[in-house]
Amino acid sequence: MNVGMIGLGKLGMPVALAMSLKGHDVMGYDVDARKMQKECFPHQEIGPNGEPSIEALLRESDLRFGSLDEVVRHAEIIFVAVQTPHQPRYEGVTTLPAERCDFDYRHLVDAVSNLSSAIETNGEDKVVIVISTVLPGTVRREILPRINDRVKLCYNPFFIAMGTTIRDFLNPEFVLFGVRDDEAAATAERFYRSLHGRPFYRTSIENAELIKVAYNTFISMKISFANTLMEVCHKVPGCDVDQVTGALTLATTRLLGPQYMRGGMGDGGGCHPRDNIALSWLARNLDLSYDWFENVMLCRERQTAWLADLIEEHHRRRGYAHRTVGIYGRSFKAGTNLTIGSPATLLANILGERGFEVQMYDPYVDEGPCPFDREGVYFVATNHPDFAAESWRFVPGSVVLDPWRFISRRTDVEVIPIGIGTDRDGSSLEMMLDEKSPVLVRG
Ligand SMILES: NC(=O)c1ccc[n+]([C@@H]2O[C@H](COP(=O)([O-])OP(=O)(O)OC[C@H]3O[C@@H](n4cnc5c(N)ncnc54)[C@H](O)[C@@H]3O)[C@@H](O)[C@H]2O)c1
Repeated sequence: MNVGMIGLGKLGMPVALAMSLKGHDVMGYDVDARKMQKECFPHQEIGPNGEPSIEALLRESDLRFGSLDEVVRHAEIIFVAVQTPHQPRYEGVTTLPAERCDFDYRHLVDAVSNLSSAIETNGEDKVVIVISTVLPGTVRREILPRINDRVKLCYNPFFIAMGTTIRDFLNPEFVLFGVRDDEAAATAERFYRSLHGRPFYRTSIENAELIKVAYNTFISMKISFANTLMEVCHKVPGCDVDQVTGALTLATTRLLGPQYMRGGMGDGGGCHPRDNIALSWLARNLDLSYDWFENVMLCRERQTAWLADLIEEHHRRRGYAHRTVGIYGRSFKAGTNLTIGSPATLLANILGERGFEVQMYDPYVDEGPCPFDREGVYFVATNHPDFAAESWRFVPGSVVLDPWRFISRRTDVEVIPIGIGTDRDGSSLEMMLDEKSPVLVRG
């Protein structure tokens, strides 16, 4: 396939080389003319077969360079790998500044604007695939207003590590594709199929933006947790961090697998909250540099308080004179009557502190039928399948907040799924994509 690469830096050049090595006719362009050469590559990158440097591969490759207009004429799909830099004080090499800042999108905006004009001048539709790392919402805010209809835009961030860019690009865990044009996605998928058969995860552009940075911060989260254990082990005689983390790595079903990777209510049960709270005591006792466990518990508590905010907001919006709200579910685990450490009870307590009269009903805990009978705001705290059944009777006319996103739209109540961003007009990203997203296509 004829491919273009805009931006020939640490990411763009090795990826352009990888595509060329796979037989694609790749033409690159960079505003910095010094980057458009194959004589040397200043960054340490290993080749696809473990070659210690990519310089020889580059020199021998068919990769070529051209002006922006030439790349546009040449390419069927054009990747954009332009920098989105941060200021030096946001690199993590100094103590964390009090104020925070987004990435700098000026280079990316310039690159896409110029590319869009060149595509317009050329007069043919082109698939443009942005790879640069951005925060969620950026493409919609910064890029979409600057492109014309001939640009078929996709967002396709890479999960590669510097030094092993080519290997990671050719052997990804999955290809992440943010899409707003089905035809463009199909062309891109055809291209990726020529490289490997890995899963192609198609979703909205906004989801892809978030998935990319969530992936990175997930790694940071794992590392900081392991380092917390290292500090505990250093301070408790007889502990050895490698033995502790070594055991945890064996838990590939529950800890290091897909389990628990679902937005919903906070953690519950007779062990987890209390263990965190006890470990927070230990953290204070050992004078740990950071109380991770308190952090986890505060996060759980504030997220539950945020759910209470949503309930209040909908209560206000409906203008109910009464102060009653209802919670479906008391137990922390679906299909059980286990209520110990339940986040449903935490939610009820927070609402109670705010002056609400909170009613709770759980078919696995409470005797008799559900007593709720007043139109109002209800919250489904436990994902008992019963609540998602069409036959489940909610109080007609009520609002039902669903943090599990498992209750289908119904005509008798207004179901509000939590965790699906909506525009001001109320339309969700999924709706904008005609409910075709997300789609995981297996390789
Ligand atoms: N380097 C990595 O390993 C890596 C991994 C994943 C994601 N990313 C993301 O990819 C993006 C690029 O990263 P990088 O490390 O390659 O940056 P880089 O600074 O090394 O390279 C960017 C290149 O784009 C060129 N450029 C700037 N404006 C241009 C324009 N208008 N037209 C054409 N070329 C232009 C620059 O001259 C430079 O050569 C960033 O958003 C980064 O966060 C990088």
